[in-house]
Amino acid sequence: MNPYFNEGWLAILVLVPLMGMAITAKAQAPGKAPAAGGDTPAFLLPALPYAQDALEPHLSARTLGVHYGKHHQAYVDNLNKLTAGAKMAGLPLEAIIRQTAGKSDQAGLFNNAAQVWNHTFFWKSMKPDGGGAPTGKLAERIHAAFGSFDAFKTAFTEAAMAQFGSGWAWLVQEGDTLKIVKTSNADTPLAHGQTALLACDVWEHAYYLDYQNRRKDFVQAFLDHLANWDFAASQVE
Ligand SMILES: [Fe+2]
Repeated sequence: MNPYFNEGWLAILVLVPLMGMAITAKAQAPGKAPAAGGDTPAFLLPALPYAQDALEPHLSARTLGVHYGKHHQAYVDNLNKLTAGAKMAGLPLEAIIRQTAGKSDQAGLFNNAAQVWNHTFFWKSMKPDGGGAPTGKLAERIHAAFGSFDAFKTAFTEAAMAQFGSGWAWLVQEGDTLKIVKTSNADTPLAHGQTALLACDVWEHAYYLDYQNRRKDFVQAFLDHLANWDFAASQVE
């Protein structure tokens, strides 16, 4: 009997079933049950309202790619992990933020939910060829609240610069009044009964690749070239 013939067939008999097992194992993601229609995450990363290079040269595609694709995505992923299997997963994002605000035992949930909301709002607060001055009723309200648009810009820049460490600068509506506020880390006007009109992210990840430590230059570029006043006007109640 030819020994090679026997070994060849033995190899086929052993390897073919093993190959089949390997293909089956690859088709089902490790550690996850096969998709059965309930695998969709509760929260998805919203689409950017413009292309990642649309805000150049004031914000680079590299900055936007990391900020949106890594940081914003990570907040969405963390929120899905923290709400998996919980009743919270079925609630609107705003409800989760309001329900967890100020509760130290739910800080992780609040931080990630608020950062998802804050970033989605921030992308809408900018547009290509933005900046300049608002018009119409929003312009009138800014003049009434701050004296002039230039005074508003000065006060907004001061708030953004005065935010120690990570946080946000906002134009908000509180009752009938417009205000400039700054918030730390993930904190958001939603948690304080205020209506956000315009947001500027002053976490270092928002500007460091383009402006390094020059936060003021970034805020200046935001106000002069990026701010979306049409969006801000649409938020006024
Ligand atoms: Fe950010």
